[in-house]
Order: sequence, then C-alpha cells, then structure tokens
Amino acid sequence: MTQWWRDAVIYQIYPRSFADGDGDGMGDLVGSTARMGYLADLGVDALWLSPCFASPQVDHGYDISDYRDVDPLFGSLADMDDLITTAHDYGIRVTLDFVPNHTSDQHPWFQAAVAAGRGSPERDRYLFRDGRGVDGDEPPNNWLSVFGGPSWTRVDEPDGSPGQWYYHLFAAQQPDLNWRNPEVVAEFADILRFWLDRGADGFRIDVSDALIKDDTFPDTDSGDPVIPKDESSPVHDIYREFRQVLDSYEGDRMAVIETGAEDDIVALFLRPDEMHIAFNFRFVHAGFDGSDLREAIDSSLAANAAVGAPTTWVTDNHDTPRSVTRLGQDSVLAGAYIPGTMTASGNGATDEDLGTRRARALALVLLALPGATYIYNGQELGLPNVDDLPDSALQDPIWERSGHTLRGRDGCRVPMPWTRGINLGFTGSRAEPWLPIPGEWAELSVAAQQGRDDSMLALYREALALRKASAALGRGELRWVSAQDVADDLLAFDLEGADETVRVLLNLSEDPIDLPDGGMLLSSEPVIDGQLPGIAAAWVARPGPEGIQARLSTLGQLIADIVDRRR
Ligand code: BGC
Repeated sequence: MTQWWRDAVIYQIYPRSFADGDGDGMGDLVGSTARMGYLADLGVDALWLSPCFASPQVDHGYDISDYRDVDPLFGSLADMDDLITTAHDYGIRVTLDFVPNHTSDQHPWFQAAVAAGRGSPERDRYLFRDGRGVDGDEPPNNWLSVFGGPSWTRVDEPDGSPGQWYYHLFAAQQPDLNWRNPEVVAEFADILRFWLDRGADGFRIDVSDALIKDDTFPDTDSGDPVIPKDESSPVHDIYREFRQVLDSYEGDRMAVIETGAEDDIVALFLRPDEMHIAFNFRFVHAGFDGSDLREAIDSSLAANAAVGAPTTWVTDNHDTPRSVTRLGQDSVLAGAYIPGTMTASGNGATDEDLGTRRARALALVLLALPGATYIYNGQELGLPNVDDLPDSALQDPIWERSGHTLRGRDGCRVPMPWTRGINLGFTGSRAEPWLPIPGEWAELSVAAQQGRDDSMLALYREALALRKASAALGRGELRWVSAQDVADDLLAFDLEGADETVRVLLNLSEDPIDLPDGGMLLSSEPVIDGQLPGIAAAWVARPGPEGIQARLSTLGQLIADIVDRRR
C-alpha cells in the first residue's frame, strides 16, 4: 500500500474557471484535459475536480441533480473518462468532489418527495417538518442558512394547500438529505462505486461533518444549526461505511473531508476506519501571523498524529479570497471557511506587492510541511482576488441571498489567464469568459510567467521538483528550531528525512536575518550577502542523522586507513 495521499501535492481544478475547450466562455473537461501537460510540468501528484455533475448550477455545481452524469456545461461522461485516462497516463491521480449533504431541488428524489406528500418514504429521504404557529406558517425552528436568510422553505402539498417545510443548510435549491435514513447511505455508497469503477482515485467530501443534524431541531440563540460531530454522532458510522467501499477497491483510493471543526473533532473523522485526510482550515485562517501559524501547525499535527493520520496544508480554494489579496491587507484577515463571510471586501486597503511577497514566502512553508498539500488553480500564478467585479457580473448565490450585502466568492473564481492573447487564452475569441478577466492579468498569465525565473510559477515549479526529490520536504519529521516567543518574527523548523534534513525559515519581520550553514535549496527572494531578506522564506539543506552517520563512518575509515598505513 503506497498511501500516496499522505504527502501528495493535489491541484484543485475549478472546472468552470480552469480552461475552456469548446469556446463557450465556460471552462470544461476537454479544456482541463488539454492542460494536463502543464499540470505534469508543474509537478502535481493528483487533481481534485470541483463538481462537474449534472446540476442546475445554482451553487456552481454544488447542487447536483444527477450524481452519475456530467453536466453538459462541462462535457460528457466520455470526456470525464478521457480526463481520468489522460491524467493517469501522466501519472497524475484524479479525485472528484462528492456532495452528500444536499441534492439539488431538481434531483428526482426531491421532486418525488414534494409530490408524495406528508409522511411518505420519499419525504423521509430529506428533512421535512411541519411549521410552527397558526396553520404551520412559521419555520420549524430559527436556524439560519449559511448563505443568509432562513434555512427552511415551505412547499405546497400535492393538493395545492400550503404544506411542510424542508431544511437547507445552504440555498433553498439545495435541500438537505436525511442521513439517518439507510436508503440515503446505500445510494451514496453506490455513487462512490460508480466513480470508483470509472477510475476515480478518491473524493473530496463536501460539508462532510454536517450530515447529521440534531433532529429535535432546537432553537438556538445565534440561529446556528446544531450538528453533532462528537464520538457518539451517527455521522461516524456513515464514514465507516464509505471507508469500507473505498477499501474494497484496489489502488489505495482515498477521501479528504471538508470540515471547519476543531482539530480534535477533525481527528475523529480520521480514525483508521473512517476517512484519510482533512483540509486544515486553521492554517488558512492563520494568514501571515507567526504565532497563529505555529499553533495551527502544532495543533493539527498533534491531533492527527493521535489517530495516525497525516495533515493537509492549504491556503487557497474556491470559497476563500485569494491569499495574495488576503495577505496584502493590513488586518491580514484570512477568509473564513463559512461561505457567508467569504469575501475580501471590507477588509481594508490591499497592498498586492506585499501580499505577493508574503504569499511567495508562505508557499515555501506550505510546500515543505509534512503531509498533503492543496494548490488551487491560479495560486501558482499568484493571482489576486478580483474584488471589483461589476455587480451585474456577480453569480454567487450569496450575493442574492444576502440581499446584496455580501459579494460572495466570485472574486476568487475568475478564470485562469493562459496567454497574453484574446481572452487571455482562457476561451476562444467568440465568447466572453463567464466572469470578466482583468486585462492586467496578461502579465500574470502562464505564458508571461514561463520565461521568468523570478515568477510565482517558477517558484512553485522549483519547489515541487525539489519536494519530489526529497525525503525531508513534505514528509520528514518536523522539529522546531525557533523558540515559541520569536514566532512573530521567525518560524524555523527542521524536516528530518532519512538521509537529509532541510531547515525551513520564514522571516516574518522586515529585517534581514543570517542564514544557517548548509546548502541553499530555494528562497522566495534573492539572498543578499548570505542573508535572507525580510518577509521571505528559504529552504536550507543540512546533513541529516544518516548523513552525519555516513560522514562519521567515512571519517572512521580514513583514520583506520591512516593507522593501517603507519603500521
Ligand atoms: C463548498 C462550497 C459550497 C458549499 C455547499 C462548500 O463547502 O466548498 O463551494 O457552496 O459547500 O455545497
């Protein structure tokens, strides 16, 4: 068993924004497949494809109406087969998004539930409840939707009378399933098999910790839902069942869970009979704060080590303002995991040069830490968030549901610039990209960065190549060499691999620091007079325990030889 997922570099493709193959302005599977060579050159081990299944696209594919088909917007099942085969030919694994918390309201199950009426087995697949108040015209409780507004919507009964309410954690078009119903568990286990049979190497499980709600549906002071995740929650049995499905396949299939829970709760989901890895959102939230970063690293490593699971490292994804922008803001406000707060607007002025410099430095921490690492498409180009999209262009449901108070996540989903040409090479000349691409991104395009040694793309490529060749980077044992009380200025840790040690230094201060002895592998800014400049990171190779051992024995042999010769 290779357990490749323990230290893999996994690249997130947001299909609508990565590459457009058919020239309609919307990224797709054919376009993604055509860029496989780029991904191989970049040096990634695996892909995570955000959802491209049949969907009315109310939440950009996170509202699925047929889990076993590809949405025509992105192509066909044959295109997916082709993408998986092509990726495998390049030695790249493919993981798919699995969205179990809710279906689309256009899913046949939900349509049947509305049509079948109160008390039916069809309704029991979802969370239908009678309303409160006179004639049941008030929602069953006060829980709020993550996207804003109430989390209950009322349906008409088959006879046309105002009827029951159904629960939705997100938009009204995303009704939550009833995961206490064994039919739901069986159906989703079967969906996993469908994609495993087609060659998927694993899954990213959307909103994974929220499947089980407190089914007494108590009112809460905050309006937040009550979602049990502790050891006794039935949610863990669901994951045990999924794990059995994954383990019944050859080839080390895996699942990564999306959860914003505390580290000790996350670890429960990563016990040996549950899922494999989890996104570490605490690391996202730590921004460029040394103490917070150190705490996030320590806490996650310790919690996961207790259950034998590795940690994942992530700074960017399709729900969070891009790190170049976040890190360039005074507050260094990290985008929160909860979608309702996922907007960079309002965080103050942005210094993009500073953000880029910090993002370069943080990339060398991200790509060195032991565990799996996620890279979100465009992160390797240092794309900023686009916070000035015209209101008329906004498409995230958060914009509408918040009554136009939250701009939502479109700013981190703007399509990739590939060339300096028309539509920056994302799409052909006859269509507009689904979100406008800023003209100045021509200089951030792949083509523009490819020829420059000092580009973000060059940094990522070099870092990934070094990581691939190293027993320490991404996989060694982490040992801090900086004291806790200097964390605000300096993070320094050794990664001890079998025959080498790499020291990682993150200089958070504005002032240069001396570099330790050793071979300089890579730095995020040029080293001047043996010093690492302020706001920069470096990887320095140092002889590891075995390296030292090897040198000592060579020395021992030399001495023995000299002694021999003297005899
Ligand atoms: C996904 C979001 C999506 C939500 C509802 C999340 O955690 O990453 O993009 O809106 O789940 O499915």
